[in-house]
Amino acid sequence: MLETKHFQLIPDKVNLTPRLIEEHTKLYEGYIKKTNEIREKLLSADKAVSNAVYSDYGELKRQETFALNGARLHEIYFSALEDGADNGNPKGRIFEIITDRFGSHEKWVEEMTASAMSSRGWTATIYDNYLKEISIINLDAHNLGAIFNSTLLVVLDMYEHAYFMDYGTNKKAYIENILKNLNWEAIDRNFE
Ligand SMILES: [Fe+2]
Repeated sequence: MLETKHFQLIPDKVNLTPRLIEEHTKLYEGYIKKTNEIREKLLSADKAVSNAVYSDYGELKRQETFALNGARLHEIYFSALEDGADNGNPKGRIFEIITDRFGSHEKWVEEMTASAMSSRGWTATIYDNYLKEISIINLDAHNLGAIFNSTLLVVLDMYEHAYFMDYGTNKKAYIENILKNLNWEAIDRNFE
């Protein structure tokens, strides 16, 4: 059973309204519930008639990665915002590694912003364990676009539910706000 995690998101520290945080948390909890529900149903779904066009078993398998990745991505996103930023003075192991890779913090922000502006789901800075390099990717759905054998370092939720209530169509202001309020110590802890 997947357990719901609880995150300390302080509205004033992350420039998001309590209502947005509350509603977003509900969506995250939904992914946990659905993952558990799908896994429970898989136990009794008829394996003998599993089929790629349509079968109960097949549909459950199809949604399993969507729900589980939905939960996981939100956990990484929320945990990096816990307690807010380190007062505009970002530091830490992952911060240094990312800054080295992109040349400066500003250059990384520029790349993340451009990727996020073009994303329909998530934008992530990842460590590719196979190529041993850091890069930025977009996922147009929780289970679409990931690079296998890579580790998520920083993720940005770019679904409209993540910002529309507070920022309307001003996607750029939302991105700028989240990148400014990242807790790099929490990102280091996640990576460990
Ligand atoms: Fe979300």
